[in-house]
Parts: sequence; C-alpha cells; structure tokens
Amino acid sequence: MRDCCPLVTIMASLLRRSTLYCSQSRQLQKSAAASSVPNFNLNAERKAFKAVLPEVLDTVVGGPKLTGLPDVRRWIRQLLEYTLFGGKLGRGLMVSAGYRMFEEPYNYSEEMQHSARILGWCIEMLQTSYLVADDVIDGATVRRGKPCWHLRPNVGISAIKDFVLIQQCMMEMLDTVFGNTPIYLDLLRYFNESMYRTALGEHLDCSTAYSKEKNNIDMLHMDHVNAIAINKLAYYSFKLPIFVALLLVRNGKEKASQELINICMNLAGLVQYQDDYMDAYGNEIVTGKTGRDIQEGKCSWVAVTALQHCNDAQRSIFKQYYGSNDPEHVKRIKRLYDEVHLPQLYEACERTSHDDIVRQIQAIEHEGVRHFLLEVLNVTYKRVY
Ligand code: IPE
Ligand code: MN
Ligand code: MN
Repeated sequence: MRDCCPLVTIMASLLRRSTLYCSQSRQLQKSAAASSVPNFNLNAERKAFKAVLPEVLDTVVGGPKLTGLPDVRRWIRQLLEYTLFGGKLGRGLMVSAGYRMFEEPYNYSEEMQHSARILGWCIEMLQTSYLVADDVIDGATVRRGKPCWHLRPNVGISAIKDFVLIQQCMMEMLDTVFGNTPIYLDLLRYFNESMYRTALGEHLDCSTAYSKEKNNIDMLHMDHVNAIAINKLAYYSFKLPIFVALLLVRNGKEKASQELINICMNLAGLVQYQDDYMDAYGNEIVTGKTGRDIQEGKCSWVAVTALQHCNDAQRSIFKQYYGSNDPEHVKRIKRLYDEVHLPQLYEACERTSHDDIVRQIQAIEHEGVRHFLLEVLNVTYKRVY
C-alpha cells in the first residue's frame, strides 16, 4: 500500500464511497433489496451538510459574549475555518444519515434533519479540537493536507488555548440552539461522557508509550491497544453521533441498546487498527498526515502485533530503535514490520474484525439502524485515509 499511486487510490476510494448503498458488503446488498429504509444518497447529504456550516459559524461568532470583541470574532472564525476544512466529515454525516435512517418515514421532518446537521457540526468541532491538541502532543507537522494549527504564525503552544476555545464554541452552539429543548440535558450528558472518555484515551495513549530510557516494553500490550481505542475513539466517534441522532428520533431511546454500544466499541477497534496501520504504511498524500507513532513509541496495533511475531533478535532490534526520532531508526523499525509480514497480518485482522461486526449488526432488530451500521462499516472497511 505504501507504494500505491495516490491518484488511483483516491479515485478507487471515491468510487467506493459515492452512494450510501455501495458495493462492498454482500450482506448489505442482500438486505437492501427487500428494504423499506429510505434510499439515502450520501453525496447529496454531504452537500446539504456542508451548506449548513456558514450558519454554524455565523451563530458562533455572532454570539452575545463576543459583542465588542471584533478581533476575537475574527480569530475564532479563522480558527474554525482552518481546522474544520479538509476533514472526511464522517462523524457529522453519521448524525444526519442516522436521523434519516433511524426515524420512521411518517415521523421524519426537515426541521429535525436540520437539527441533525447542526449537531453533526458540533461533533465535527469536537473532533477538530482534539486534533489540534493531539498534534501538539504527538509532535505532528501535517494535518488534513496542511500544516498543523500549532505551526501557524502566532500560534505555537497557545494552540492548547485554541483547543479549549473550539470546545467552548461547541458548548455555546449547543446552548444557543438546543438550550430550551427537551433533549438538552441528554445532549450534555452524551457530550460530557465523550469528552471524559477521549481525555482518558489521550492520557492512556501517552502513558503507555515505550521509551528505551523507561525500558517499559511491557506497556506494548494488546489490552492497552484496545483500552486506548475504546476510550480515545469509540465514544466521541461512534457512540456520540449515533446516540445524538437517536435523541432526534421519536421514541429513539428505545433503540439505544447495549448491543448498539457494543458495536460502537468494536467499530472503534477496527478504526484504530486501521489508523495505526496507516501511520506506518499509509500514503501521506492520501492520508493528509505524517506518521509519528514509531518516533513517539506509541502502543499501536502495529507495534504490538509486530512484537507478537518477533524472534529474540528482532525483539532486541525493536527495543533498541522503537521510540526514536532518528530517520534511520524509523526505517529499521519499518523494515522489521515488513520482515514479520505486517501487511498480511493486518489484512487478516481487518477482515476478521469486519466479519465479527457484521455478525453483531445482523442481530440488531430495527431495519434502519441495521442498514445504517452496515453502511458505516462498509465505508470504513479497506479505507486508505
Ligand atoms: C488521536 O489519535 C485521536 C484523537 C484525536 C482523540 P491519533 O494520535 O492516533 O490520531 P492521528 O493518527 O494523529 O490522526
Ligand atoms: Mn496523533
Ligand atoms: Mn494515529
């Protein structure tokens, strides 16, 4: 995958993603045939979703607390425009697609669909805030194909203040639009839960990292990989958008089952394994970011799986060179990954994880929820960015 032509890869990926009911999963095609679920067009929704962003930005910068602070308004607009631009919008689109597919057609309303798009942008703001902080923590340089926010002129370490600022803009947006609605308390609970979990995940991500000086190779354990994935990813990336969409649906709470939460956890595992794999094997032009996991000594799926397949000599090489910024050391680790056939191990793991999740999804009773989850899985499987 590392040597793939980027244009071919991007085109293949775009083709695969062009409709919500696309071709990847056989199970999906079979069940879609006899379906009463609305035929949802992802490209059309993406366009409608993007069209709501100006309203979101105007609401944020037009808020009463910014009266008389024109420079702050300008800063916030620039911060949000720069950091929100260029993302895949997967989490935001999950809320609007979720509302469309979870709601019974006779209860569906354009007004609620609009609320779903606003809430989708709130989750996109949350995601963006974490990326701003995460890139400082991980010493990253490129994000979404552009220099990281902390490398912009006059930013630097004060990016941490902007991380907080983005999250507070999100909270303000929630209060302005939904403060007087019956779902506000539940919204706050879900957002708070996600924020706590993600902070725990980022902490685990840092505290489990390997360094030669600390001599803590035991930290690189699959239990830690999974604990990181669940905390860092499952809540804000899956449970939050899905459960927020259910808040908009009539009697949606009845569909908010433990089985649904379990699927969110497993989807996060798959997505984290993919993210870890792409960190070492991804094409930077396609992913829009530069891998840093080897340099940072991260407890990634790749590192832990490699260690599981190392002989004693390879294990000493790993301990010698993992967690170093020296480009030669990074190369040696990547060579070791090739030696233990990581691409093949990854392909098998991705397939197993996909098949397990399909089985779990098929046990979900509501047809719209089932279709939605299969689509999310379908768009995720074999992703290259
Ligand atoms: C960051 O995890 C996830 C959050 C922002 C919570 P990673 O550090 O693995 O993400 P990338 O690889 O930098 O995107
Ligand atoms: Mn990172
Ligand atoms: Mn990563």
